[in-house]
Parts: sequence; structure tokens; C-alpha cells
Amino acid sequence: VEFEILPPNPSSLVASLRSVGYSLETAIADVIDNSITAQAHNISVWYSWNEGSPWIVLDDDGHGMGPETLVEAMRLGSKHPNEKREARDLGRFGLGLKTASFSQCNQLTVLSYWAGHVSGREWDLAQIDSEPDKGWRLKILDSFDIERISLNDKFLHKVLNGFSGTSVIWRNLDLASGSESNFNECMSVVRNHLSLVFHRYLVSEKGSKAISMKLNNIKLEPHDPFNLKNLATRELPLQPIVIDGQKLKVEAYILPHHSKVSKEDYEKFGMSEGYSQNQGFYVYRNRRLIIRNTWFRLVRKEQLTKLIRVKIDIPNTLDKHWRIDVKKSTANPPEAVRAKLKTLMPEIRTAGSSVYRAKGSRIKTKELHPIWTRVAANGKIEYEINRSHPLTAKLLEETNDLKSLLKMIEASFPKDTYFFDLANNPKELSSNNISDANLEEYLDLFLGEFKLQGLNGNELSGAVLECQPFSKVLERTKKIFDKKGIIYES
Ligand SMILES: Nc1ncnc2c1ncn2[C@@H]1O[C@H](COP(=O)(O)OP(=O)(O)OP(=O)(O)O)[C@@H](O)[C@H]1O
Ligand SMILES: [Mg+2]
Repeated sequence: VEFEILPPNPSSLVASLRSVGYSLETAIADVIDNSITAQAHNISVWYSWNEGSPWIVLDDDGHGMGPETLVEAMRLGSKHPNEKREARDLGRFGLGLKTASFSQCNQLTVLSYWAGHVSGREWDLAQIDSEPDKGWRLKILDSFDIERISLNDKFLHKVLNGFSGTSVIWRNLDLASGSESNFNECMSVVRNHLSLVFHRYLVSEKGSKAISMKLNNIKLEPHDPFNLKNLATRELPLQPIVIDGQKLKVEAYILPHHSKVSKEDYEKFGMSEGYSQNQGFYVYRNRRLIIRNTWFRLVRKEQLTKLIRVKIDIPNTLDKHWRIDVKKSTANPPEAVRAKLKTLMPEIRTAGSSVYRAKGSRIKTKELHPIWTRVAANGKIEYEINRSHPLTAKLLEETNDLKSLLKMIEASFPKDTYFFDLANNPKELSSNNISDANLEEYLDLFLGEFKLQGLNGNELSGAVLECQPFSKVLERTKKIFDKKGIIYES
């Protein structure tokens, strides 16, 4: 057989790649995925209208790349999609950096700092276009070229400080054809998008530290679509779905009825499209939100279920089954998962619509926020301090050390002596009575926190009574309410 080598025509391929359907915000998120995979702790997006020649820089302090790795990174199709990836890797196709960048700009420059050196490479699409027969010419930047890119002093001098990291620079932006105000509006959409898509990276979550993300030096605040900080959000206890031995975490939440949150909060969590639109599944791949507000055609979006959002966590090992796309913006549950999800729907729907209909009806009447929880899994029973108890959750957000402390406390529970006492001296085992003074002190702490969340009146006292220790001493707590003149449902 005879063969002909037929490489793609660079200028036409690139032009087609430019229209795979990224928006500015999804493109930026795709580049940020790489920074997260590179274990960055600080990610900064810088942008400037620059008098009509706007630029955007995505800057990280991740592990950076040496010259060879950088060249490979610039290649279209730098890794095979079937290659096994580390569990925390957000990539899959070896394309994102290029396709995302080309969708927004004509000049992609990447500088990377690694082992005390900086390397730079650039794809200039105008140049490729103007010299089609010269093929895929990747520009090598020398130190003069690098110095000349003086867009913003803030990100170009890492190497002097011995840091590692990567700067992705977009110039010749398509947005240049619009106006400055349009550019700024687009960047504010970017801010909202990133706050949502990466909200779980912006706070510490088990085993991983929070990452700081900034947009023109202003910190991104996490936008948790489930409003978990608010006590009026209800969680439905659901069983995890197990498929081929892999556990799929599914958590259903019912957002607070508008009578239970401040107007501001209600609007914030409705997001720009409103509650009806935003009901549905929220799928996270390695804690990064990839799809939201769809019921995967299992049920229709209805007014009655508008407050329901269901969180699904998937690992990157299932990418094929979920048919993840390059933009990480579409995925479809495999048939087995669909079937299981379908069985959960009636329960979720009933619970959700009862909140919508009868405001204030409680889904779970028992206490919602115990201090200790009993976890039975894999043939083991463990007692854990409830991380989502409002006070624990708040403190965990403030300090990472608390997490280690809690683990230590849990692991060092004096089981043997406790069981000995339980068997031999049950009467002497004090039941940890809280004094009135202490109870009042705790109560003040909770009242302060819940008021900050916008609760007042019966909702405020109701929220308190759902938490331990108050749920265990209802009458005594109510007495203190009386003393403080706080109303409650008797
Ligand atoms: N900020 C960065 N820091 C370190 N390495 C990076 C960075 N950005 C890209 N890379 C390297 O370049 C490679 C190519 O990135 P690209 O986004 O094109 O593909 P990918 O992340 O592997 O997969 P996907 O197409 O799914 O995003 C990465 O696999 C990584 O090795
Ligand atoms: Mg990528």
C-alpha cells in the first residue's frame, strides 16, 4: 500500500477550532482547570481594556513547566484522551488550553517559570494564517521577547523570587471589536461564573486547602448553589448510588422558601436565570461544577420543584461513561445512573414541592444539626463530629487547623474506659450537663451567627432549636428565649 501524509491545513483547522462554542467565561474556566491541576494555590486573572487593545492574563503559582513540557503543552492534542489521569486532574483531552484560548484570541502566549528559569512559547494565529504553507510554527520567545511583554508588572517577575508558575496571556482578543463597557460586562459575567464553577475550591474541603482566586486583584467569593450556610436549606437523606463498585455521591437539597431568607439572598441564589430555570442536577467532576440545572430529561422543570437542586459528584475515571466534552460543559449520565436517578425522583419531588407549597413545613422534624454523628460504612461504625453543624462549619472555614484537631479528637476517643464505665459505673457517668450560664453563652453565639444569615423571629428561634445542644434541652432554651424576649413557636 502507498500512503500520503496529509496533515491538517493549519489556518483552516485553527479557524474551525475557534468556533467550538466556548464563551469567554467557559474558556477562562478551562484554562483555570489547568492551574488547579498544576496545584496552584493562587490564581489571578488580570485584564485590561488597554485603550482598545485588550488583553487577559491567567496567572498561577502552580508547579510550572520546563521548556520541553511547555512545548508539549502548546501542541494540539498534547495527551491522549484515554491516558490514565491522576484522580485530581481536571484535564482529559490535551486540547483545552489551545481551544479555549483560540476561541477568544488570536495570540496565545504562555510563559512558565520552573526551576529558576522562564520559558515562553506563542501561537500567533494571524501569522499562521498569513503563511499557510509554513505549517504549525510555534514561536520561541527569548528573554528580550519576554521582557517586552510588559502588560502588567504583577505577574512577570516570579522567576526573580524563585517562584514557579505559569502565565497564559491572551492578546488580539475578539472582544476588541466591542466596546470597553461591553468588555467590562463580560468580565463581570466571568466573575460570577468562576465563583460558581470553582466554589468548592474556594473553600477548604476535606483533604484540600482553599485556593485563592482573584480577578484584577479582587478576591472571588464562593457561590455555593445549595446555600448550605443557610440553615433553612433542607437536605434529603439519600443513599449513594453504586455502579460497578464505584460510589456516586448524590445529595438533594431544597433551597429555602423566600419567606425564610433575606430578599438579597433569595435573589442571589436564584441566580440570573431564576429558580425555575436553576432547578435540577448539579454535577461536579473532581469538585469542579461541569453541568448545572438540568434534570437530564428524567422529569420536567416545574414550578413546584423549583427549589430543588441535586448535587452529584463524579470522579474523572468515569469521563467516558458520562461522555464529557472538551469544554467540560456537557455530560450525560450513563444508562445505569439514569435508571437509579429515576428511582430517586419521586422522593425528591415530593419533599421539594412540600417546601414550595407550605412555607415553613419541616421536612425532617427531628434535630437537624447534631454535634456527633454515627457513620456506619464498610462494616465499620464511627462517631464523627458533624462538620456541617453551623458552629463547626463556620470555624472550619476560618481555620484549617480545626480539621486536624477534630480528627484527633475523634480518633482518640477513650473507647475502652468509656465502655468500662458504662458497664460498671453507669450511674456515675455524668451526662455532661450544661449549666444555664453556659447554655446562654452558646445561645448568644448562635443567635449572632443566624442573625447575620438574615434569620429573625420564629425562624431565628426555630433554627436554634434544630441544633445541638439546644435541641436536647428545648425547655431550658425556651426559658432563655423568654428572658431575652425572643419569640418562638410553642
Ligand atoms: N497552568 C499550567 N501549569 C502547568 N502545566 C500546564 C498548565 N496549563 C497546561 N499545562 C500542561 O499542558 C497540558 C495541556 O493542557 P490542555 O489544557 O491543553 O490539556 P489538558 O488539560 O491535558 O486536557 P483538556 O483538553 O481536557 O483540558 C496539560 O496536560 C499540562 O501538562
Ligand atoms: Mg486543560
